[in-house]
Amino acid sequence: MTVNNNLTWHDTVVTKEMRQKRNQHKSAVLFFTGLSGSGKSTLANDVSRKLHELNVQSYVLDGDNIRQGLNKDLGFKEEDRKENIRRIGEVSKLLVDSGQFAITAFISPYQSDRQVVRELLLKDEFIEVYVKCPLNECELRDPKGLYKKARSGEIPHFTGVSSPYEEPVNPELIIDTYNETRERCAEIVLSYLVDHQLITT
Ligand code: ADX
Repeated sequence: MTVNNNLTWHDTVVTKEMRQKRNQHKSAVLFFTGLSGSGKSTLANDVSRKLHELNVQSYVLDGDNIRQGLNKDLGFKEEDRKENIRRIGEVSKLLVDSGQFAITAFISPYQSDRQVVRELLLKDEFIEVYVKCPLNECELRDPKGLYKKARSGEIPHFTGVSSPYEEPVNPELIIDTYNETRERCAEIVLSYLVDHQLITT
């Protein structure tokens, strides 16, 4: 990659703080990580709907969707997943600067890649949410039929089958989609935002 050093950073006239003040809420990244089929997209959308009802601005970035556009040049080898998450980190940072909640739903299997995103943001702006569900349950759910294909060898480098998933070390939240109801999972995330004074209800 070529790095261009002849660049100058231009501060924007309208700042993140001004947008947050006008919106009457803070902005941050809700970074959902977990196995395929663990419930990341469902939870991301449930949380986004609840925030919308509270007049809180949010935007969902979902792996399956982003990989059909911005990241359609990337596959599933380690280097590609790293670049996938790096770009999502940068886009999320822009969304936070725009005064919104970025809600990301990516497997993001590597601890080091998630750490890179954490370091892009301020301390309270990165909320790592481990969407936890046992592999055998994800495989039973198999909403897209991909585990079946991965087991038969049709899909290589499949997370949990032929590619690793590194569990978060110190996530801000663990959401257990195996034992909790769908409604309760979204409520826990909302409560976190309220308790940390990022939103008011
Ligand atoms: S990540 O590992 O790079 O973070 P991402 O969340 O963007 O993955 O994309 C995962 C989605 O791509 C899965 O939900 C699944 O639908 C699809 N997919 C296709 N091939 C694979 C694979 N080899 N491993 C995991 N997911 C895959």
